Amino acid sequence: MKQVLIDSYGTPWDVARCADVPDVGDPAADEVVFDVLAFPINPADMWFCRGSYRLKPPLPATPGAECVGRVTAVGAQVRHVKPGDLVINLQRENWAQKRRVKGVDAISLPAGIDLEQAAMVRINPPTAELMLSDFVQLKGGDWVIQNVANSAVGRLAIVLAHERGLRTVNIVRRPELATELKPLGADLVIVDGDDLAARVTRETGDAPIRLGLEAIGGKATGRICDCVATDGTVVHYGSMSGQNPDVSRNNFIYRGVKLTGFMLGRFLAKRNAQQIRDIYANLAAQVMDGRLHAPVDTVYPIENIKEALAHADKGARNGKILVSPNGAI
Ligand SMILES: NC(=O)c1ccc[n+]([C@@H]2O[C@H](COP(=O)([O-])OP(=O)(O)OC[C@H]3O[C@@H](n4cnc5c(N)ncnc54)[C@H](OP(=O)(O)O)[C@@H]3O)[C@@H](O)[C@H]2O)c1
Repeated sequence: MKQVLIDSYGTPWDVARCADVPDVGDPAADEVVFDVLAFPINPADMWFCRGSYRLKPPLPATPGAECVGRVTAVGAQVRHVKPGDLVINLQRENWAQKRRVKGVDAISLPAGIDLEQAAMVRINPPTAELMLSDFVQLKGGDWVIQNVANSAVGRLAIVLAHERGLRTVNIVRRPELATELKPLGADLVIVDGDDLAARVTRETGDAPIRLGLEAIGGKATGRICDCVATDGTVVHYGSMSGQNPDVSRNNFIYRGVKLTGFMLGRFLAKRNAQQIRDIYANLAAQVMDGRLHAPVDTVYPIENIKEALAHADKGARNGKILVSPNGAI
């Protein structure tokens, strides 16, 4: 079978290769084996290859925080999934044609779900969902501001916020994105820049913004902090710039703005197994009925992993780069 390996940490498309490796074998009593049907290349996977992610395992290593698979075999003790079922995997190392994992880590998805969307259910939808629910008690009509608003997480946050009756200020770096984000329910789409807070104040009519979602880092974090109300909360959940947050102390001292962080694993860990399954069942249902959708730019075969990684690194994509290791999509 084929599996992506990185032999050193560095430029993703230089260090990653598609290798022939031994088959995963049969499942133990508490295990599940599945064929990987598709996986996305997420920003965190790029940092993993570069060696700048929080996890840096001994080499060679296989990246891949998420995927969708079809179960081919289950161990005697596994009851909640059966051969033929679609699953997502709560564990990593998913850039391969096959996986053998603990049954408890395989979460079933509804039959008939779109495979491209299913490959992206594990991380970004619960990230958007939990950031909207776990930090600030918001009610209908409240405003939320976010940057990287056209990212997969950003688009999901627009839809989920709109469903809750929240209003969103969406910060992007390309003005043409307004025509894509408004139909999702975005109230305002504003291009980032030095005078952001003044423009946001003008566009919202000086409405208080109690929650900010921020995934760029550096001065962009500071600009989102400048936009939230006194005692507002900004959740830093990614660093597309690779820089640490750079925030004026005036926000903390004079206005009591709170800057905190989100990592999906940390927030899922606050929940029990049934609550986690319920979150995914709810999100998968919304994918099934078309409410949640992440655009896909291109799908590559696993043999072309280097090309796929180089493409994923480019800005201004029209969606995610996916890989289909068994030619299922
Ligand atoms: N903490 C967590 O648990 C968690 C979970 C999921 C995701 N995340 C984070 O969420 C962020 C978005 O992830 P995603 O999968 O939704 O991303 P994505 O769909 O791949 O989109 C990437 C986004 O980043 C923007 N971008 C890229 N480089 C940038 C830069 N230097 N400055 C400003 N914007 C830049 C892109 O804008 P253009 O389209 O204009 O190029 C695009 O909006 C990432 O930082 C990711 O690590 C965190």
